[in-house]
Amino acid sequence: MKRFVIAAALVAVGVTTAFAGPIEDRQALMKAMAKNTKEAAGYAKGDTPFDAAKVKALLQVYVDDAAKLPTLFPDDSKTGGTDPTTASPKIWEDMAGFKSHAAKLSADATAAMGATDQASFAKAFGTLASNCNSCHGAYRIKKD
Ligand code: HEC
Repeated sequence: MKRFVIAAALVAVGVTTAFAGPIEDRQALMKAMAKNTKEAAGYAKGDTPFDAAKVKALLQVYVDDAAKLPTLFPDDSKTGGTDPTTASPKIWEDMAGFKSHAAKLSADATAAMGATDQASFAKAFGTLASNCNSCHGAYRIKKD
């Protein structure tokens, strides 16, 4: 009976990972980050009137996501995914470098929280947004 319960539990785990796993989780996190960036860019460009509290909430999302991001690249997630992963093998060859890119995103988001108006936020946001390309350039493979 005990053995049957364990086997059934393993089957259940197998079924759930077919639908969601670290690859899907990190892609969802990245998609949400892109949405967050679009919203934050509105404040940086002045399309949305500057609101310190709202901007701070958007910046906190980067801090939280940057902390979560490195945990979504376990060794068994180098390939695969419902939507095939574009994570580069370099992530696992240089996990320390990858983590430092995530840490820089977090640090730049925290620094941007000091912005007091649109002009100062625009400057800080430019620095923050440069992290997207710098990490992707180093740790993401291009899909053709
Ligand atoms: C520390 C590294 C790192 C940083 C910083 C980073 N990304 Fe990513 N991003 C990745 C990796 C790795 C992938 C590929 C994930 C995969 O396919 O498994 C990715 C994928 C994406 C994707 C595609 C998601 C999908 O559905 O496949 C988007 C959109 C994205 N990132 C947006 C952003 C934006 C916007 C920023 C900046 C605010 C950003 N990323 C910062 C590492 C990073």
